[in-house]
Amino acid sequence: MRFEDEQLIPKLDGLGDRGRWPASLYTDEHNKIQELLLKVENSLLALNTNQPSGKSLRRDIITFIEMEKLFKGVCEHHQEREETGLLTELDRQTDEKWRTDIIKPFFNEWNNCMKRTLVVVDEIDWL
Ligand SMILES: [Fe+2]
Repeated sequence: MRFEDEQLIPKLDGLGDRGRWPASLYTDEHNKIQELLLKVENSLLALNTNQPSGKSLRRDIITFIEMEKLFKGVCEHHQEREETGLLTELDRQTDEKWRTDIIKPFFNEWNNCMKRTLVVVDEIDWL
């Protein structure tokens, strides 16, 4: 989302034709997704702290399933909106040089992030 917020959305906002939706809509959706993630994180931390059991645990599990369903729906809707709006307009109204110039640093950052993630995953004792 940071790449989109810092590179793609400002570029769209600067175009003469922003397409179907204003650039701020994508930022607003990113904020919504971040809020949902924070809510899940806080709920998981509370679950860990409270260590519920029985009926209370079942209720918490149902709450997590509902939160996951909401999160998945928001993300799918957002992705569809980006694919039919943001990305389509940028493809249509930018040149290859601009796209190449922004995507190379992104891939470098992505690859570095993946390397760090793999180190963490390799250190997990799964059993
Ligand atoms: Fe996005």
